Amino acid sequence: MNPEFKFEFIDEFRLNENTKSQIADLLKISFPEEDFHGRTYFKQLPHYRLLMWNGKLLIGQLGLDYRVMTHNKEPIRVMGIIDLMILPEYQKKGNGTLLLKELDNVIKDHKENIDFLFLVADHHKFYENCGYRLTKQHVKWLTIEEHINYGIQEKEFDDCLMVKQVGDKKWPDDGELDMMGYWY
Ligand SMILES: CC(C)(COP(=O)(O)OP(=O)(O)OC[C@H]1O[C@@H](n2cnc3c(N)ncnc32)[C@H](O)[C@@H]1OP(=O)(O)O)[C@@H](O)C(=O)NCCC(=O)NCCS
Repeated sequence: MNPEFKFEFIDEFRLNENTKSQIADLLKISFPEEDFHGRTYFKQLPHYRLLMWNGKLLIGQLGLDYRVMTHNKEPIRVMGIIDLMILPEYQKKGNGTLLLKELDNVIKDHKENIDFLFLVADHHKFYENCGYRLTKQHVKWLTIEEHINYGIQEKEFDDCLMVKQVGDKKWPDDGELDMMGYWY
């Protein structure tokens, strides 16, 4: 990794105005099809952020949602990855992979508290290279759009849910996943 690059793991509520502004800019560039109205989040605040800096420039980030979900009615502790993004001029150079590897590093001593890493994605190959795999599940989740809660939806998905085992629990496919909250 470029020796100038630094990672920072931070609680969401500790973010300063400069960092929030750079996150909002990165979101706008990374997901041009969505309108974030200048926010740092799409639907809901994450609990933590893993930031990647080149000096004072934010070149990448991911948000983290730490939550109990149920899988086939059994509670599981899930660290969900939200809005992973790398500044376009820093993409295709291994930086996204480095950010995911740093997340593995951050959680490696806390495996007793995290059963799975989880995310929703279209870029399967990129995540598969980092140890995630696609899973097919019947999902229940809370729908939120622009700060309005539309209640619970449920549907089967086989093309976007990706999971990586962290603790000892196994993740069976063809199960029922209750996200116990909003879909990120
Ligand atoms: C998805 C994303 C985070 C990947 O970041 P990245 O820094 O480009 O990731 P990497 O460089 O580690 O890997 C990306 C690809 O570049 C390739 N790559 C890595 N280093 C490379 C290099 N030096 N030269 C050429 N290609 C390289 C990787 O093999 C990988 O290929 P693959 O996608 O076919 O598996 C980035 O494309 C992004 O921010 N996209 C916009 C936001 C987004 O869609 N986020 C995902 C939400 S689910």
